[in-house]
Amino acid sequence: MPCYQISVDGYAACGKSTLARSLARELNFLYIDSGAMYRAVSLFFLNQEINPLDKNITSLIEELDISLSFPNNESRAIVHLNNRDVTDEIRTQQVSNQVSQVAAIPSVRKKLVALQQKYGEKNNIVMDGRDIGTVVFPNAVLKLFITAEMETRIIRRKKEIESKGREATYDDIKNNLKSRDYLDSTRNDSPLKKASDAVLLDTTNLTRKEQLSMVLALANCRIH
Ligand code: CDP
Repeated sequence: MPCYQISVDGYAACGKSTLARSLARELNFLYIDSGAMYRAVSLFFLNQEINPLDKNITSLIEELDISLSFPNNESRAIVHLNNRDVTDEIRTQQVSNQVSQVAAIPSVRKKLVALQQKYGEKNNIVMDGRDIGTVVFPNAVLKLFITAEMETRIIRRKKEIESKGREATYDDIKNNLKSRDYLDSTRNDSPLKKASDAVLLDTTNLTRKEQLSMVLALANCRIH
């Protein structure tokens, strides 16, 4: 039987992953955070002290082993980089500051898109990212494009960082979100943009519950 894919794309920190995760839980689908894979590649370069823009990195990328595991059938995946659990490390501000440069490299995208498509072949999934509805799953059964006002996004991301016991200033977060939005939407390979058949959802004034019930209604229409 063919599998269903639901894509959730949008700008940085506008609530994609929270929405995608809870939608997956409700539908009993697998949730895949494609951004975590780009963050893992970025962490690799930081740890190896390699400037990915300076070197010919194609062979390094080919050898990288990135995988996700789903302990206890939980919808939150553990991210492995060369067999090491990097789930927490990929969320640091240092990684956030470099990830969009790494994500613009075509050999990185080629490898990760293939990995993402593999997860979608065998599972019903909800995947969030930037190019999921446009490139990774152009035939997704439901495509969502999420936006929110900048102020709301900064406040949400600050709370998220602080809830994990880390710190980041309002200005650091703002600069990071702005620069990632710019780099992600202007790169040559698979830029962030709304697929023409995606449903646009502005979450600025919606509670998590309201967002979920809207997208769940849409998903149920398309799936059943
Ligand atoms: O911070 P946020 O959760 O919004 O971002 P993320 O989903 O963790 O993605 C981190 C970065 O990975 C993005 O800013 C993009 O540069 C890149 N990315 C991408 O290029 N394509 C995807 N499908 C997912 C993420």
